Amino acid sequence: MTYTLPNTEDKSNYVEEKFDEIAQKYDRFNDVITFGMHRYWKRFVVRQTGLRVDDECLDLCCGTGDISREILRQHPDCKVTGLDFSAEMLKIAESKNSSNSRIQYLQGDAMNIPFPDANFDAVTIGYGLRNVPDINGSLREILRVLKPGGVLVSLDVGKVRLPIIAELNNFYFFHVVPLIGNMLMPGQEMFQYLPHSSLKYPNQELLKRMMLEIGFQQAEIHDFIFGASTVHVAYKPVIN
Ligand SMILES: C[S@@+](CC[C@H](N)C(=O)[O-])C[C@H]1O[C@@H](n2cnc3c(N)ncnc32)[C@H](O)[C@@H]1O
Repeated sequence: MTYTLPNTEDKSNYVEEKFDEIAQKYDRFNDVITFGMHRYWKRFVVRQTGLRVDDECLDLCCGTGDISREILRQHPDCKVTGLDFSAEMLKIAESKNSSNSRIQYLQGDAMNIPFPDANFDAVTIGYGLRNVPDINGSLREILRVLKPGGVLVSLDVGKVRLPIIAELNNFYFFHVVPLIGNMLMPGQEMFQYLPHSSLKYPNQELLKRMMLEIGFQQAEIHDFIFGASTVHVAYKPVIN
């Protein structure tokens, strides 16, 4: 099946609409395609935040809220805001929340974060940067809402450096993953979008450089399974 990515102007509407459509199957899909490993990577993301008592964390592109809930599991005295523009993903996040008042979910756009400057101690974003229409614009927004010294932790797919493993990974991502998606939701093209969106996504080093150029400091890369999955940790300077 040939697939064409949406152009930049249409990307936000497309992504919002498609995540609404797959919301009910999203968690199962993630568990199957990563063999459950995304849960370990999300726990790792939260460990990198270094949150302390009463700190506030923004979980951007929170989806069904895995990372938001993990933040409170590791840091029960913190406050979390999960932000996402997909109403259907947020409904699922809210249904899993068991009315913990330290977590609030909000519908909003990662390109225009509805919070004042220097509001959060940490921002987490799981598989979100790949989906925004302008990564630099979203990184600027994240930097703006972080307090000086605050940390950004981003989890997403990365580029595998070893050629043979890269080929295996591409085969899995471009052929097996859409097949699994199609079994869960026949005919749903979002499962083609997911691998194809990685083609335009910067590799680990380039994303790190983009973070540093925008004004983050000490950006670190943590690779998993040969770089197929990657976590960036970057800090807002204490003095801007
Ligand atoms: C692949 S899901 C990741 C969900 C969750 N963070 C996780 O790790 O399982 C990407 C999420 O980003 C949201 N998203 C994409 N672009 C967005 C934007 N510009 N503003 C807000 N949410 C966005 C989608 O609605 C979707 O819920």
